[in-house]
Amino acid sequence: MNKQVNYGRFLHGGDYNPEQWMNRPDILRTDIEYFKKSHINTVSLGIFSWSVLEPNEGEYHFEWLEEIIDTMYHNGISVILATPSGARPKWMSDKYPEVLRVNENRERNLFGGRHNHCYTSPVYREKTRRINMELAKRFGQHPAVILWHISNEFGGECHCPLCQEEFRKWLEEKYQTIEALNECWATTFWSHRYNSFSQIESPSPRGESGLHALTLDWKRFVTERTIDFLKHEVQAIRDGGSDKPVTANLMYDYAGLDYKKFREALDIVSWDNYPSWHKHTEWKTALDCGLQHDLMRSIQNRPFLLMESCPSATNWQPVSKLKKPGMLLTASLQAVAHGSDSVLYFQLRQSQGSSEKFHGAVIDHYGGCDTRVFREVTEVGNALEQIQEITGSHTVSPAAILYDRENDWAMKDSQGPRNEDLHYMECIQKHYQALRNQGINTDIISMEHDLQGYQIVAAPMSYMHRRDYAQKLASFVENGGTLVLTYWSGIVDETDLCYLEGTPHGLMEVTGIRSTEIDALYDWEENHAVPENGNHLGLSSIYTCKNFCDLVQPIKQKPDVEILLRYADDFYQGWPALTHHAFGKGHAYYVCADLEEAFYGDFYPQIIKEAHILSPLESIPEGVSVTTRENDSSTYLFVQNFGTKAVSVPIPAEYKLLYGDTEASMKPLTTRIFKKAR
Ligand code: GLA
Ligand code: ZN
Repeated sequence: MNKQVNYGRFLHGGDYNPEQWMNRPDILRTDIEYFKKSHINTVSLGIFSWSVLEPNEGEYHFEWLEEIIDTMYHNGISVILATPSGARPKWMSDKYPEVLRVNENRERNLFGGRHNHCYTSPVYREKTRRINMELAKRFGQHPAVILWHISNEFGGECHCPLCQEEFRKWLEEKYQTIEALNECWATTFWSHRYNSFSQIESPSPRGESGLHALTLDWKRFVTERTIDFLKHEVQAIRDGGSDKPVTANLMYDYAGLDYKKFREALDIVSWDNYPSWHKHTEWKTALDCGLQHDLMRSIQNRPFLLMESCPSATNWQPVSKLKKPGMLLTASLQAVAHGSDSVLYFQLRQSQGSSEKFHGAVIDHYGGCDTRVFREVTEVGNALEQIQEITGSHTVSPAAILYDRENDWAMKDSQGPRNEDLHYMECIQKHYQALRNQGINTDIISMEHDLQGYQIVAAPMSYMHRRDYAQKLASFVENGGTLVLTYWSGIVDETDLCYLEGTPHGLMEVTGIRSTEIDALYDWEENHAVPENGNHLGLSSIYTCKNFCDLVQPIKQKPDVEILLRYADDFYQGWPALTHHAFGKGHAYYVCADLEEAFYGDFYPQIIKEAHILSPLESIPEGVSVTTRENDSSTYLFVQNFGTKAVSVPIPAEYKLLYGDTEASMKPLTTRIFKKAR
């Protein structure tokens, strides 16, 4: 992770493929005019351009790209330049089949699609290195080029012999001896012990698929292999003489890679957001996007870029719906509210053929600028110019939620009390929604993240705690933090070995309880949590519990554990459903069951108060999103109405309006941005 990138203006624009229009110079000329008209100041070029850049092996054709980059420059438009490795030309896979990916059944793919390559193949690496170096030599110093876009949406995995070999090396480096690996992987079970690293193969549905630690390590390896490839690409750019910053566009809740590991490899995180607006309530979708924005920002704890979003409808969702008027602007400003320094689209001009010909674009097949989408894009461009001073400002979050990919992998594969529908994401969302309803900036963190600076940390369903993690949480509480732990936490270590001597492992002292058993509920089953009279948070409602009911008991040495809710039904009626334990200077709560949303809505405002966290606004109407960003001189307050009704949102007097209307109430899908001196 190098220096922070701040362009001093919001990047507005997106993916542009002029190589699809080489025989239409008239179109290319109009595009530039349209870009200027809609306040587009940035284009991403070269994504998937390899077969035009190098039509035959070693034969580079960069003139067209040079001409486009120059033209952009002369028109005040910046360029994000991509490396083309997201898809390779046919000649390459014909001549060197090893560049193609091998699936988990050990079948090599045919040419086609994209992202269909081996990250280990020396040939693929060499070809990528060459072209990246050439691009860097030719354009790496060009004043229009502001950022490198490495490949496109890294993802997938390759099980070819070369990758298998790398995997074995990786394991050997990690475990040193095969005995250590056997121990950590519990291979004695079903007689799966290995005698040497050379015997190990990646997981496969045709072979080993039940050795959880193998699967986990394979997934970790895939992340590291991908990052290794990414670094290899960046090195080629550096060797080609360009020191411009690099990014890679990440994807929505992508479970194939552990994105936290990209922290050091990128100068700035970017991601592609394609929500299904108008499918659920807008507030529900907004919370879902908000969480992903927060996750992306939290990877480096600094501003990120929205690299792709759709100005209209996509064409790959089961139902690809148009955005209603105002949605594009609201969704774009939501990204900014959560820390983005850009609003970029896929795509600027719609392609004429192939699989994305109906994907929304700033300029569609009709080709005019007198369209609704074009007008709305222009509106976004205008808004971004108006709030330009916000770029580079930071998000300070008093709360964080642990949503760790390794935990997700391990839990899905755990073969525990529920094998389908663990509802992990829903659980994370319940905590998130409750915090966000109070206008609290919330980071979405991994186990690696430092907990300093947070007042509340929720670690819901944190099934896997690395060996050192309990201590991290314990110190956090001891020093005054509020920890919200839930059922199914602190169960296994990093190789999925169950902790012995009681769970939540290493946190029984802190929470004051031990989980004795856990009941899984059928989908149609419910239990209830009933408030204990006089509980210190004043909880007074009865809440439904579903899916999981953890049966916890205060440990002997901790008779001071407070029970705030108790189960109402089944043989564990009367057992705790919510506990509290004061530990050091802080508080540890243990939520025993998958409680309904309403519980979190009552619980969080109380613990926010207890933690002395102040919301930026005293009262927030339902469906209104409140976030802040700050720099040395100002705090910026974003208020967005994702609700269904016009609402009045009183703002403290020290805030001055920077963007938005001044009517008495805020209509649905409107945004106001305020500013106060710090
Ligand atoms: C992804 C890709 C783009 C394009 C869009 C379509 O994000 O990166 O190339 O395919 O999806 O929504
Ligand atoms: Zn491979």
